[in-house]
Amino acid sequence: MSGDQSQRGARGSRLVALARRVGQRLGRGGEPPVPQGPVEVIFEGRARGPVPGGVSLLAAARLLEVDLSHYCGGMCSCGTCRVQVVAGRDNLSRPQGNEAMVLGDARARAGDRLACQARVLGPVTVKVPAWF
Ligand code: FES
Repeated sequence: MSGDQSQRGARGSRLVALARRVGQRLGRGGEPPVPQGPVEVIFEGRARGPVPGGVSLLAAARLLEVDLSHYCGGMCSCGTCRVQVVAGRDNLSRPQGNEAMVLGDARARAGDRLACQARVLGPVTVKVPAWF
């Protein structure tokens, strides 16, 4: 391969990487990009710590050893993984699909989220409601 071909190849790779990043950003409707490093998650009164960026709040709870109900196994059908967002609402992925239906209108409007559906894109503080 000549030097010209090598340079074109490197430039092409950079353009492809840039297009992927722009596409990912646009595809998520303006959400923050998935962080490359750890992100601080606080489960108020229970635990706090860094988790890999992009994981669900349910996965974060498991990593931080927070006992969080999830009867349907994260399939967005039971609602038992509901959490109240205390801070950092914009640092979670946007609600998709059935989440608002499972939460109910009032809780969705109040900003509650299903931990199995909300991905962590930045620092966030949540509260696990008492069920009983
Ligand atoms: S685990 Fe059932 S809705 Fe999240």
